[in-house]
Amino acid sequence: MDRTRFFQASLALAALATAALWSSCASVQRTVTAAPQIEGAHFTGNKSCAECHTNYTRTFTASAHGRFHRDDERAAGMTGCESCHGPGSRHIEGGGGRRHIINPRQDGAVCLNCHVQTRAEFNLPHHHPLPGGRLTCTACHDPHGGDIHKPSRGLALTRVNESCASCHREQARRFVFEHQALREGCVTCHSPHGSINAKLLTQRDANMCLRCHAQVQGGVVPAGSVFIGTTDHTAFLRRGTCWSAGCHTSVHGSNVDHKLRY
Ligand code: HEC
Ligand code: HEC
Ligand code: HEC
Ligand code: HEC
Ligand code: HEC
Ligand code: HEC
Ligand code: HEC
Repeated sequence: MDRTRFFQASLALAALATAALWSSCASVQRTVTAAPQIEGAHFTGNKSCAECHTNYTRTFTASAHGRFHRDDERAAGMTGCESCHGPGSRHIEGGGGRRHIINPRQDGAVCLNCHVQTRAEFNLPHHHPLPGGRLTCTACHDPHGGDIHKPSRGLALTRVNESCASCHREQARRFVFEHQALREGCVTCHSPHGSINAKLLTQRDANMCLRCHAQVQGGVVPAGSVFIGTTDHTAFLRRGTCWSAGCHTSVHGSNVDHKLRY
């Protein structure tokens, strides 16, 4: 693992430790919570889950979270199965079942204990309606992972467009004239958790498009004007952004116009 990743990981773990400390004084910010707790239960370690959940323990090692796991009792609540599912002793004593164990499927609070940056993103003015409960982390992230062909950034990143498509068919469908930008994923233009910009856009103005559609400069182009390809865009851009000025409204693709105007 390279140094940056290790550093980020240490930060996340440090955040957890801090969270645990803070919540021990009852009056501090309620949003900061400790490692998941289950009344009367203690941590037992990943090995104790293996007997009944072999599929998970086997693939876990290769997942984004598993890479930081050590089989060490002191770390059980911080990196293993129980860092998300809570201490497992009562669940195991009771022979499993749906009781005495946390399933974070409905509620991402457990994840946000560690991912404080993500928590901040979901608090931005425009965000996916996660805090409201209409979708959770698992809509886009596979928590157990294990597929070696997945890139390491983001648990389900190879399926980014696919996972967005399950809810946003209109933007992700096939078009006669596709916009090649989408091949790099929806996240080229959208911040998946939240953004200060409407529609979760990464940038609010034409710069979002000019990143890839470089302006022609110098030579025959008069100073102060914006040329994209061979077209003078100077006057167009005074009317608004590339997509809101009445021009490239079909930014995700078009079935009728290769310039994505309608
Ligand atoms: C003795 C067998 C056994 C052991 C050991 C065991 N479990 Fe389970 N677990 C089960 C059974 C059975 C279910 C219910 C599955 C079902 O109904 O489909 C279950 C369900 C779960 C669920 C889903 C709960 C829900 O509400 O949907 C989670 C999460 C879970 N176990 C995690 C763990 C973890 C983490 C460990 C180790 C600390 C562990 N289990 C150890 C048998 C076991
Ligand atoms: C990063 C957090 C995280 C870690 C670590 C983690 N899980 Fe899970 N687990 C989840 C989430 C989230 C779900 C709900 C998944 C879903 O709905 O697709 C889940 C679901 C489950 C379920 C229930 C599946 C069902 O069909 O109801 C079991 C069993 C389980 N996990 C076992 C484990 C075991 C065993 C480990 C350790 C090897 C582990 N998990 C590690 C987050 C985690
Ligand atoms: C106990 C702390 C902890 C909990 C709980 C936790 N994570 Fe993580 N998570 C980490 C650490 C540490 C990493 C590794 C950081 C890295 O790779 O940069 C990580 C990595 C990730 C990554 C990949 C980040 C990347 O850049 O590759 C995603 C996505 C993620 N977690 C989502 C979740 C989700 C969803 C949940 C809840 C189901 C969750 N996490 C619960 C600590 C935690
Ligand atoms: C709408 C889909 C979606 C939801 C819901 C979602 N994520 Fe993500 N998440 C993504 C995508 C896509 C990326 C990759 C972003 C990138 O590469 O720019 C990502 C990246 C991450 C990362 C890596 C660091 C980063 O920000 O790039 C972490 C950690 C993470 N998500 C945690 C979470 C947690 C925790 C939740 C639930 C509270 C959650 N995510 C809910 C889509 C989602
Ligand atoms: C589980 C379903 C689900 C998934 C998966 C999902 N979204 Fe969403 N998305 C929603 C919901 C619900 C809203 C809120 C719509 C509303 O409030 O009208 C939303 C809103 C948005 C908006 C803002 C729309 C607006 O009009 O302001 C954008 C942009 C967006 N999602 C992009 C994405 C991207 C990119 C991904 C993949 C990384 C993704 N979504 C994955 C359900 C989902
Ligand atoms: C080239 C940049 C770009 C890419 C890539 C992109 N979008 Fe968008 N998206 C936009 C812009 C710009 C808007 C705002 C359009 C408007 O306000 O009229 C938008 C708006 C949206 C909306 C709000 C509804 C609407 O159409 O106004 C959703 C949902 C959405 N995008 C989903 C997606 C999904 C899913 C993907 C990946 C399949 C994706 N976007 C890829 C630029 C992009
Ligand atoms: C990640 C890079 C990327 C981003 C960001 C991007 N595009 Fe594109 N776009 C492309 C590529 C690649 C093509 C196909 C090659 C070409 O025609 O330049 C393309 C093609 C187009 C075309 C068709 C051009 C033609 O003559 O057929 C239009 C119009 C367009 N993009 C508008 C936009 C708008 C508007 C935005 C901002 C919302 C945007 N693009 C953002 C990469 C991008």
